[in-house]
Amino acid sequence: MSDTLTIDGKEIPYRPGQTIMDAAMAAGVYIPHLCHNPEFKPHGSCKLCMVNVNGRNVASCTMPAASGMTVLNDTPELNGARRSLLQMLFAEGNHLCPVCERSGNCHLQALAYYLGMTNPHYVQFYPSREVDASHPDVLLDRNRCIMCELCVRASSEVDGKDVFGLSGRGIQTRLVVNAPTGLLGDSALAVSDKAVQVCPTGALLIKRQGYRVPVGRRMFDHKPISVVQTEGGHD
Ligand code: FES
Repeated sequence: MSDTLTIDGKEIPYRPGQTIMDAAMAAGVYIPHLCHNPEFKPHGSCKLCMVNVNGRNVASCTMPAASGMTVLNDTPELNGARRSLLQMLFAEGNHLCPVCERSGNCHLQALAYYLGMTNPHYVQFYPSREVDASHPDVLLDRNRCIMCELCVRASSEVDGKDVFGLSGRGIQTRLVVNAPTGLLGDSALAVSDKAVQVCPTGALLIKRQGYRVPVGRRMFDHKPISVVQTEGGHD
């Protein structure tokens, strides 16, 4: 058998070791995702990338590709489930898009548009979360954190610093900072760190750069996330 699988009826090649997500991205097939970034080890936590393989729902970013797989991706059922996951993410954080500096560049917001999320559906938790403005160059706003751990992985795997981690369970889970005081300003974080660049929302923002690109001229203002991420630029 050749090394191919099908996604929504289209035959896709893959190399041994690739996941379904890897194969789909290489073939220009968009699978919605939030915690996945091809530069980092798959994490498998957000489940936005769930696809149906031979009748079973799996996370495509962690599932190895295999010959003969019949994968369903862009279906009303899967997109409906993804929309529900997004609505839960919006409900458990404080995502005030109209006043967020990342609006138009935010993956969470862009996915909500892509999946046709027109209302929050769930009751908002309005959790109390800390903002940390102690770093001279970087703002940490936990209200916008979706616990994807991209900054955790980037700080560990690329920056070699382990500045970030998650602590707590369930709704109490928080992004924590590795510093004696727990403050970003007392950590080893530098504004040039990869960890600062990979945040898919506005949880980590570089100071003094707000609105340099006006709303309306930002990445996802021009193209949907499905196009941006299949054109090769992940961000
Ligand atoms: Fe696969 Fe988040 S992108 S679980």
